[in-house]
Amino acid sequence: MVNVLIIGHGAREHVIAEALVESGANLWAFMSFKNAGLEDLSQGKMKIHSETDFKEIISFAKQQNIDFAVIGPEAPLVVGIVDALEKSEIPCIGPKIEAAQIEGSKIFMRNLLDKYNIKSNVQSKGFDSLKGVEDYLNQMGEENIVVKPDGLTGGKGVKVYGDHLLSMNDIINYCKELIAKGNSFLLEEKCEGEEFTLQTFCDGKKVIGTPLVQDHKRAYEGDEGPNTGGMGSYSMEDHLMPFITKADIETSLNDMQKVVSAIKTETGVKYKGFLYGQFMKTRNGIKLIEYNARLGDPEAMNILPLLKTNFVDICYGIIEENLKLDIDFMNYATVCKYLAPEGYPVSPLKDQLIEIDKNRIESTGAKYYYASVYRKDGQVYTTTSRAMGVLGISDTLEKAEDISEKGVKCISGKLFHRKDVGTEKLLQKRINHMKSILNQ
Ligand code: AMP
Ligand code: GLY
Repeated sequence: MVNVLIIGHGAREHVIAEALVESGANLWAFMSFKNAGLEDLSQGKMKIHSETDFKEIISFAKQQNIDFAVIGPEAPLVVGIVDALEKSEIPCIGPKIEAAQIEGSKIFMRNLLDKYNIKSNVQSKGFDSLKGVEDYLNQMGEENIVVKPDGLTGGKGVKVYGDHLLSMNDIINYCKELIAKGNSFLLEEKCEGEEFTLQTFCDGKKVIGTPLVQDHKRAYEGDEGPNTGGMGSYSMEDHLMPFITKADIETSLNDMQKVVSAIKTETGVKYKGFLYGQFMKTRNGIKLIEYNARLGDPEAMNILPLLKTNFVDICYGIIEENLKLDIDFMNYATVCKYLAPEGYPVSPLKDQLIEIDKNRIESTGAKYYYASVYRKDGQVYTTTSRAMGVLGISDTLEKAEDISEKGVKCISGKLFHRKDVGTEKLLQKRINHMKSILNQ
């Protein structure tokens, strides 16, 4: 049996762990909160400790004879967990520190795309003071601007003109706020269109795509409110989106392939692990919104449960740099709805009890994944981040949405979710939006 260590404590790690166990792995978990799903899947073979304390992780992995580790979240990746573990001869699924900067620094990412002439790039400029900001805003036009803090923000620091910033003054004030926190930031060209997520498996050379997913970043229904880590996501039974063509996917995958080569040329390091591309289809073609050095959360829940290929074999393909191209997924639609603590993302209510009617939820057919919650004395409580992912899988989007909504109703607590994720009405709105953009 293969001994696998999963690092991380969220719903993404829960679903990764499920795929590993279903593919025959003997699971161990290292996490900063006691995720109930990971506790159960590892049968209690776990350690609750900081996910960036590499010394502890290495000593835990060595004691358990771990064959390889899968790193779920970005935080340990961007500070070099893979370099540390591999030095101790523990193979990893995840990129080394230099390659992980594709997510760790948006300025690094944009400069790389610029230097290697990658077509999906947009105009942008990095700053660490106000010097030159006004000139850049005047040159670009303030209404065409998105402000992004440079480092990791859990998807919450991005502010878009017209949504979160309504004037030149708002932009300057937000830049000042970031400077006061010691943050460098990016002023980036604002794109208009429909977003999609393309998650891939990379073995240092090959980049293999998985079904497309659309996430919902805004906190409230109708795509209102602040940006979040993602409030829910869906995928279609044909693995496409009604507003994204096969040619669009080829363009995006082609660019991801170029990025993997560019990382190797620029840093000398091969990109190995998961590479997540978030793109937007605009009237000027496919544009890159962000790269992540890991699977998406919630998007991992839309793809891994559909895998037909053995996931442990895929991991070995990544480690041994010989991924096979024929990775298969079931032709089902999926809808994942996130339950988040009331007040998330601005002032989330933490340490609140969550009650799950397990028998009832199982009878709906919905799957559920524990996110940033912790188990104490057999009960599950909220932290300050998203709490539970509820997944419906079926042969149509409508049925998958119905299953996930029914599942959500079996979970109670001071939580909220977006009822509109995966609904026919929202999908139609996206299709109409795309049509109007392309016809302009
Ligand atoms: P990010 O954390 O970079 O994915 O940004 C969060 C959200 O902000 C994205 O999902 C988009 O909805 C929006 N966003 C980010 N960059 C841009 C951009 N260049 N143009 C328009 N919207 C953007
Ligand atoms: N759902 C967006 C992310 O994982 O970054």
